[in-house]
Amino acid sequence: MPHDTFTFIDNRDNTRYDYPILTGKRGPSVVDIRSFFKDTGMFTYDPGFTSTASCKSTITFIDGAKGELRYRGIPIEELATKHSYLETCYLLLNETLPNAEQLADFDLELRHRAFLHEGLLNLFHAFPDNAHPMATLSAATTALASFYDTHLEINDEAEYQEMARRIIAKIPTIAAYAYRHSLGIPFIYPDVDLSFTENFLTMMRAYPGGKMHRTIEGEAKIRDVEIRALDTIFTLHADHEQNASTTVVRGVASTGAHPYVAIASGIAALWGRAHGGANESVIAQLEMIGSVDNVETYIAKAKDPNDPFRLMGFGHRVYKNFDPRARILKELQDELREELGLDTELMAIARRIEEIALSDDYFISRKLYPNIDFYTGVILTALKIPKSMFTPIFVIGRTVGWVTQWIEFKKDTASKIARPRQLYIGD
Ligand code: ACO
Repeated sequence: MPHDTFTFIDNRDNTRYDYPILTGKRGPSVVDIRSFFKDTGMFTYDPGFTSTASCKSTITFIDGAKGELRYRGIPIEELATKHSYLETCYLLLNETLPNAEQLADFDLELRHRAFLHEGLLNLFHAFPDNAHPMATLSAATTALASFYDTHLEINDEAEYQEMARRIIAKIPTIAAYAYRHSLGIPFIYPDVDLSFTENFLTMMRAYPGGKMHRTIEGEAKIRDVEIRALDTIFTLHADHEQNASTTVVRGVASTGAHPYVAIASGIAALWGRAHGGANESVIAQLEMIGSVDNVETYIAKAKDPNDPFRLMGFGHRVYKNFDPRARILKELQDELREELGLDTELMAIARRIEEIALSDDYFISRKLYPNIDFYTGVILTALKIPKSMFTPIFVIGRTVGWVTQWIEFKKDTASKIARPRQLYIGD
């Protein structure tokens, strides 16, 4: 027998069914049940895919019990502290970190690809002023597909790379434009002289013509510490294996739709507050709690089984230990506390929640730890980024992950259209 096998016994008639056990490089093995329905006439039942591996992958590995995360085998701690976001993007797309020349080429290409077709700008004006930037971002990403229909049929590695680099470069511009439209102020075009992260901050903040805010002392430049903090946030969001939005991206990929439409669907899925929308909800919740004195009341609400209130930024399907990304951001918060002026009432409330939750039996017994979203909001607020842009910033970081997963799906000969079954309980 080529594999170890896992045996199912149907207790109704003692029929045995053997299935191969597939073992990966790390993490739990899987039982290959692809022929289960053909063999038994039954489906398996697993809402939310809590026990189901939907693909084989070489991109990201999470050990939720240990609180470990690696991209292409490299620990997230190493990437977040020793490498830039663009190096991380290159790593995800090419399976290896770039050398100096490869990085310079990649960087320059992204700078040049950051511009949007002028025709696409009209789309932004169709949205009401108060449109949430996530709605505009998702729509504009779908619209982008119509400008690049050649990406519908990709035949070689160069075409995969071009498609990927184009979307990674343009998403920050779309996000910044969505934001500026929501304020009713003119768009700032990308500047090829600025790095990926500085360019995004400039497109968000600058006055028309690219000039920054002017103070008595002169033009207020974007500070290196701000670029470093945002770049780290992008790196920590770059990929996260088969999470909800990535599963949506792969699902749309499975129907043969355009890659940018798949990414637009990922953006839509990310928006929800059980997923990427949690970062916006965390700050909204801290503002609602309003004072350290009110924290215990809200902790009691979160623990009450009859109250739907949940602590935003706590809990995770996979991590049953501290989210390693949260740990890195917590350290970054402490390190940049003075430089970014993080000693705010919001941060004091957040610290109190963290303190109580980490010592309370309700949270300990359910292994509910702060996740990445609990910490991003405080840093982004210090960067003067409004709440509505928190999830778009998650999108900017995650686009590389989605597009890498899209490519992996396309190259995998075992890929099939995503089409789960159901247990019908209606009339
Ligand atoms: N506050 C209070 N109780 C919670 C919380 C929370 N944030 N999260 C889970 N629980 C409780 C549940 O009530 C449940 O309790 P029970 O066993 O007594 O019924 C138990 O913990 C398990 O929760 P589930 O919802 O079954 O866990 P699941 O893995 O399905 O959900 C999720 C994970 C969606 C992240 C959940 O923890 C949650 O809603 N968290 C708040 C939103 C959030 O922070 N989302 C960001 C996730 S990270 C990301 O996407 C970037």
